[in-house]
Amino acid sequence: SGGPSWTQERTLVAVKPDGVQRRLIGAVIQRFERRGFKLVGMKMLQAPESILAEHYQDLQRKPFYPALISYMSSGPVVAMVWEGYNVVRASRAMIGHTDSTEAAPGTIRGDFSIHISRNIIHASDSVEGAQREIQLWFQSNELVNWADVGHHSSS
Ligand code: PPS
Repeated sequence: SGGPSWTQERTLVAVKPDGVQRRLIGAVIQRFERRGFKLVGMKMLQAPESILAEHYQDLQRKPFYPALISYMSSGPVVAMVWEGYNVVRASRAMIGHTDSTEAAPGTIRGDFSIHISRNIIHASDSVEGAQREIQLWFQSNELVNWADVGHHSSS
């Protein structure tokens, strides 16, 4: 009785090393919580190159790829899975344009970033991409089922 499946859409969001270094983890979480989304997984880690290579596999031939991997390896990231109605599209709108120069005020990048190479945050760009990225960054037993939240276990 958890409602229709489109209310359980999930996306992967990651606070990048510059966001962590600039103490923006809380601000990011606050925006997603206030919007009404549910946090179903979260971890802080130094991202291994194996994960980054798979995460950015479509970008391997881009000129900025080495700089992107080095930036993403420059410190810990906070990977999160957020759940809720239309969360993939909504998250992309909340984080703003990839190029911070173009990001509207009120978006995360528009409020906190001035350059594409230090753009604070990642969010999956499609439902299929989100499924792939969530499986890459999380084990299924690291994700919470909100149907169980608030209920005490009887055993
Ligand atoms: S593309 O060319 O359309 O595929 O690129 P785009 O979708 O705009 O961006 C894909 C990811 O690459 C990051 N990016 C960069 N990082 C560092 N430096 C430069 N110049 C740069 N250009 C693009 C961009 O932030 C996207 O990563 P995520 O993690 O999804 O934000």
